[in-house]
Amino acid sequence: MSQFEDSWHRKFYYLRLSVTDVCNFRCTYCLPNGYRPHGGNNKSFLNLDEIRRVTRAFALAGTEKVRLTGGEPSLRRDFVDIIAAVRENPTIRQLAMTTNGYRMARDVAAWREAGLTAINVSIDSLDARQFHAITGQDKFHQVMAGIDAAIEVGFEKVKVNTVLMRDINHHSLSTFLDWIRHRPLQLRFIELMETGDGRDIFQRHHVSGQVIRNQLTDMGWQLQTRGRSDGPAQVFSHPDYVGEIGLIMPYDTHFCANCNRLRVSSAGKLHLCLFGEDGVPLRDLLASDEQLPELQTRIAASLGQKKQTHFLHQGQTGITQNLSYIGG
Ligand code: GTP
Ligand code: 5AD
Ligand code: SF4
Repeated sequence: MSQFEDSWHRKFYYLRLSVTDVCNFRCTYCLPNGYRPHGGNNKSFLNLDEIRRVTRAFALAGTEKVRLTGGEPSLRRDFVDIIAAVRENPTIRQLAMTTNGYRMARDVAAWREAGLTAINVSIDSLDARQFHAITGQDKFHQVMAGIDAAIEVGFEKVKVNTVLMRDINHHSLSTFLDWIRHRPLQLRFIELMETGDGRDIFQRHHVSGQVIRNQLTDMGWQLQTRGRSDGPAQVFSHPDYVGEIGLIMPYDTHFCANCNRLRVSSAGKLHLCLFGEDGVPLRDLLASDEQLPELQTRIAASLGQKKQTHFLHQGQTGITQNLSYIGG
């Protein structure tokens, strides 16, 4: 099988696989009203065998990194088995997850043992009360203990996702910098994106990542080069800090030029972009191992439909209700 490639000659090294759309937090910018089943009906999630088959199809076509997302992936009871199933593919050398951190202190050692290689965790504020107000959960200290546990069991650079919000955390750069001065963390500011459920918060709190970028440059932070299976963050480092700062700026005009990732939702749909289309159903081709060639052909053919860029910079809202549905 040749490598997956789109009409713009972009190759796809990175699969983001959502294993559930359920989440137990209700972050103001993602699930302001809490979890409700997408489209009103409670579809079941891909089972372990379906996950095994879909990741195999991607592994045979050049995917070297898989990220398990959600919703909150660790809410799945078979999460450890999912990790092991993805790592059965020898070419998938990097297996990451994005988590709200709720189960991390308890389970991170088991995840690492099963084959997880990297963790991204969301923390939008270093103030416990503000964290509670944003997430709807009074779990700041539990999530912080989870980060310590992850470092302790050997995860080398835990990444922290901080959604940048005007008047909530956009003045807090120095607090975040103090936190990472002696800690091996990569803290990434993500520009707030507009979603169907998040129009109000976007109007009130969107601020360009450029404000952080300017401050970092003034303080002597240096931009690093990006690897072919890295996510979209621009990463900065500084000799006085153990940690790094990343910026994810989807409203930048060139953001999509080096898109290297495809998404599969928990309902088994291939999403060619985080925004802008309804997804190509794959589930009917995940019932048996014999369907592998047909599955690969469908994915490869669908890539012809992948657009050069999203249209968020032209004022278009992402059609997803929220990012938890297809895994952010
Ligand atoms: P790593 O480099 O492996 O850490 O990947 P990552 O930064 O993609 O991982 P993570 O799941 O932590 O992503 C952080 C957030 O970046 C996502 O939840 C999205 O909000 C945003 N993001 C990632 N990929 C894309 C993308 O292709 N398009 C847009 N618009 N946003 C993205
Ligand atoms: N804009 C930007 N980031 C978002 N996330 C969820 N919804 C949005 C949004 N509307 C982020 C979360 C988490 C990651 C999976 O996606 O903070 O870190
Ligand atoms: Fe790729 Fe779409 Fe993300 Fe742009 S918005 S980087 S095209 S997935």
